[in-house]
Amino acid sequence: MKNLLQDKVAIVTGAGKGLGEAVARAYAAHGAKLVVSDLDPAAARRVAASLPGAIAVACDVREPLEVEALVAAAVEAHGRLDIMVPNAGVASVVPLVQMSYAQWREVLSVNLDGVFLCIRYAAPAMIAAGGGAIVTMASITAQAAVPLIGHYAAAKAGVVSLTQTASVELRAHHIRVNAILPGFIDTDMVKPRKAEFEKMLGLPDFDALVAQKQGRYGTAEEVAKLAVFLASPRAAFSNGAVHVLDGGTRASLL
Ligand SMILES: NC(=O)c1ccc[n+]([C@@H]2O[C@H](COP(=O)([O-])OP(=O)(O)OC[C@H]3O[C@@H](n4cnc5c(N)ncnc54)[C@H](O)[C@@H]3O)[C@@H](O)[C@H]2O)c1
Repeated sequence: MKNLLQDKVAIVTGAGKGLGEAVARAYAAHGAKLVVSDLDPAAARRVAASLPGAIAVACDVREPLEVEALVAAAVEAHGRLDIMVPNAGVASVVPLVQMSYAQWREVLSVNLDGVFLCIRYAAPAMIAAGGGAIVTMASITAQAAVPLIGHYAAAKAGVVSLTQTASVELRAHHIRVNAILPGFIDTDMVKPRKAEFEKMLGLPDFDALVAQKQGRYGTAEEVAKLAVFLASPRAAFSNGAVHVLDGGTRASLL
C-alpha cells in the first residue's frame, strides 16, 4: 500500500543515518514531505538530497532554541507540521558504579530531554494544523534491563512515560502519540559496542547472544514500516501505546 502519508509534513530527528534515515525514506516513499534533521549537517543533507521535496535542517536536540527553530523551519518550508519523530539518540557502555555524571547527563540530555523538547515545540504547530501524530523511538530496555546501559534504559523508560502523558494531554487536539520499542537493530549505535559488551560481560560472541535472544537482528526498514503505520490513519485507534518490535525477546524467559 502506497501513499499512506500523502502530503503530510514530517520531521525526523537523527535522520542522517540508521533508524532515522530509514524512517525518513519510508515516509517519503509514502508521499510525505520531509524535514530531515540531524546533529551532523552533512548527513542530513545527504539524505534530504535523495528525497523529492525534502529539506535538511541541522539541529542538536539538546538545545531548546535549535528545536524551536527546527519546527519553525518545517512550517516555513512546507506550511504546516503533521508528524514528529523524535528519533535522535546516543549510547555508551558503562556499569552504573563506574558511570560519571557527565556520561549520565550526555545520554539523558539527548535521549530524554531531546524528546521532551521535540514534543514541546512540535505540538503547538501540530495543534495549529488541526492534529497529527508523534512517534517516539524508545527501546525494549525501557521495560527490561540490559547491563551496562543503565542511563540509556532510564532515558527510554522516561520516553515511554512522556509518550503516555503527551498522548493524554494532546488527545483533545487530535494528536496521537505512540512509542516504538525496538530490540537490537544492527546500526552504528550497536556495531561499535559489541566488543565492549563482550569484554565487560565476558561474552564470547555478542552476535550469538542476540541470535539466541532475538533470532536475528531487526532491520531499520522493519522499524520504519511500523513508524509509517503509527503515523498513518491506519493507526487511528492507537494512542499512548508502546509497540514492541524485538523478535519475541521481551516475551521470553528462555
Ligand atoms: N539500533 C538499535 O538497536 C536501537 C534499538 C532501540 C532503540 N534505538 C533507538 O533508535 C534511535 C536511532 O538509533 P540508531 O540505531 O539509528 O542510531 P545511529 O547511531 O545509527 O544514529 C543516530 C543518529 O542520531 C544523531 N544524533 C546524535 N546526537 C544527536 C543530537 N544531540 N541531536 C540530533 N541528532 C543527534 C546522530 O548524528 C545519528 O545520525 C535512537 O533513539 C536509539 O536509541 C536503537
